[in-house]
Amino acid sequence: MNSEEGLIRSTMKAKERAYAPYSKFRVGASLLSSGKIYQGFNIENVSYSITICAERVAAINAILNGALDFEKIVIATDSKEFPYPCGACLQFLSEFAQDMDIILINGEGKVEKTTLKKLFPKPFETSGLK
Ligand code: THU
Repeated sequence: MNSEEGLIRSTMKAKERAYAPYSKFRVGASLLSSGKIYQGFNIENVSYSITICAERVAAINAILNGALDFEKIVIATDSKEFPYPCGACLQFLSEFAQDMDIILINGEGKVEKTTLKKLFPKPFETSGLK
């Protein structure tokens, strides 16, 4: 099993653990950082707006474990659409990666490969402050 297959399997397992009783829209994510995999899945709440996306849960899992240099994230859903990360997640990921590979898997098992730079070329930053 190559490392990408491992990441994909991990993502499918993470998707199974999604807590999505309201939308029923399960999302799994696996983030690769310094050779280790950090899983995440969406965690919904009855107070809908405080739901947390799978990508940010994976990122927080990595950060908690001291992994601050993101290389790749695989994201999977059951839907026919590819699960492009939302804007908030793109901004969150961009804090820990200049660029990173983003691999999307839809419910039919089709794979689309892109990068953080392509999806989010202009993250918010404050480095211009004097
Ligand atoms: N969701 C994610 O996990 N990642 C995204 O990038 C967008 C949306 C989740 C949140 C919610 O639980 C479900 O998908 C439907 O919006």
